[in-house]
Amino acid sequence: MGPDSALLLVIWMHCASFFCSFATTVEPTVEPATETATLSNITANSTEWMVDFTDIESKFALRTSDEPEDDLCYIVPGQRQTIKECDFNPNEKTFVVIHGWTVTGMYESWVPKLVTALLEREPTANVIVVDWLVRAQQHYPTSAAYTKLVGRDVAKFVNWLQAEIEYPWEKLHLLGYSLGAHVAGIAGLLMKDKVNRITGLDPAGPTFEYADAQSTLSPDDALFVDVLHTNTRGSPDRSIGIQRPVGHVDIYPNGGTFQPGCDLQNTMMMVATTGLRNMDQIVKCSHERSIHLFIDSLVNAEQPSMAFRCSSKEIFNKGVCLSCRKNRCSKAGYDVTKVRSRRSSKMYMKTRDMMPYKVFHYQVKVHFFSKNKLSYTDQPMKISLYGYAGEKENIPYVMPTLSSNSTVSFLLTTDVDIGELVMVKIVWEKDTLISWPWWNPDTFHIRRLRVKSGETQSRVIFIAKEGEFSYLARGGVAAVFVKDKEAQSSQKNAKLHKLKMFGSSFKKSIE
Ligand SMILES: *[C@@H]1O[C@H](CO)[C@@H](O)[C@H](O)[C@H]1NC(C)=O
Ligand SMILES: *[C@@H]1O[C@H](CO)[C@@H](O)[C@H](O)[C@H]1NC(C)=O
Ligand SMILES: *[C@@H]1O[C@H](CO)[C@@H](O)[C@H](O)[C@H]1NC(C)=O
Repeated sequence: MGPDSALLLVIWMHCASFFCSFATTVEPTVEPATETATLSNITANSTEWMVDFTDIESKFALRTSDEPEDDLCYIVPGQRQTIKECDFNPNEKTFVVIHGWTVTGMYESWVPKLVTALLEREPTANVIVVDWLVRAQQHYPTSAAYTKLVGRDVAKFVNWLQAEIEYPWEKLHLLGYSLGAHVAGIAGLLMKDKVNRITGLDPAGPTFEYADAQSTLSPDDALFVDVLHTNTRGSPDRSIGIQRPVGHVDIYPNGGTFQPGCDLQNTMMMVATTGLRNMDQIVKCSHERSIHLFIDSLVNAEQPSMAFRCSSKEIFNKGVCLSCRKNRCSKAGYDVTKVRSRRSSKMYMKTRDMMPYKVFHYQVKVHFFSKNKLSYTDQPMKISLYGYAGEKENIPYVMPTLSSNSTVSFLLTTDVDIGELVMVKIVWEKDTLISWPWWNPDTFHIRRLRVKSGETQSRVIFIAKEGEFSYLARGGVAAVFVKDKEAQSSQKNAKLHKLKMFGSSFKKSIE
């Protein structure tokens, strides 16, 4: 066995053990007595448990931007002086960061990264990291069952802090990753009042997919609950991240199933460059992407990723959901629009494979004419977009269906800001080796192309650069489209007309 295959085997073994233990669905066997007692005591109208700090096993470290890596100062519930000793700032907002399940029993490398990003964005804030590493490094179902006790610890801590220094609930923001998201949810539920916000970063799926709202993160747990779902592949309850929406706003980047840059090839490259010590990170690439997307939203606020409300990823991929009316679109991550509708809203977006993750979303709508009846599936296209600010050439797109006299709508993304669009080119690639350079019967006529930008909400109509039609031939030259100046100005005029007709009279009627 060569070194390469040995490496592969090691990776495979790591992956296997990780996924197996993660996906086991053994009923929790841990301290069942405590478990039920806790729950009944919680539901009972009793506040005694709330002020008993003796059984708290979690630790609460206030971290600073100077030492984002280490727990140097613990705030201890029941010990008022620790609030001061740790330089907790009672006038500023507080982030409570809650980690998830851990194989190593140590903090993962994202923790200081998130701490640093939070403090970069909110330099005066308090960032508290919850240490429940001992309970988090058990067999997965055991750790999953512990989320209730850890949630109770966090609730006690926050209740105490609030009571002790009258710390305002609206300044509290809990962030939980994986199992930590459910810890945050349970904590939120048990607190005397609702915290301002809970952010769930790919909340864990196994044992939680079908659990009730009291055992998982849910919209009842805070005034506003937002969630990023990044690793929801597989059947429900087997997928690492929970599949169903559990917040007010649930964003599914790249469909939520699997993230770009997390395939095996990239994994191998990362191992080659960074070594095996980053093994667990590599295995959890998509799961952990939720955190890095959130970090991105903190530190690259001027390049915000936009998410759009949509009923499914399949419909989103048709490009038809790029609307911003009635809060249908929002920045993703820290600056998400806080919509608290009763029904959770699922939102979708595409991203790049690295930070900054932002891409620009476009809906392209095109009608294909042809004299002869033509019908194809999965045709490879290359589309180029040209704008005043930049261009992106040869964006690959596989068109699922392509047939005579039919309209196709699809989503196209670019990682560069093209600005106002001026020209579009489409090439229909040959997908076979056989070619007839002298005869090409497979040609569609295209009169118009409609492009809508999700980021700017502008709609542009393109027409054939020359003549009435552009011709799209399989294996042929590019069909070229330019902005239809006439349509644009008539659209503008129509809008102006509308404004004159209805805008002014509307204004009058409310005056
Ligand atoms: C729950 O309440 C019972 C009595 O109602 C008490 O004996 C028990 O210690 C409580 N458990 C916890 C964990 O607070
Ligand atoms: C629950 O506790 C609150 C405050 O301590 C009290 O006002 C209320 O009457 C109690 N409710 C019941 C059903 O015991
Ligand atoms: C498509 O529509 C055009 C014009 O309406 C018509 O001439 C042509 O025959 C149609 N093609 C097919 C395959 O039906």
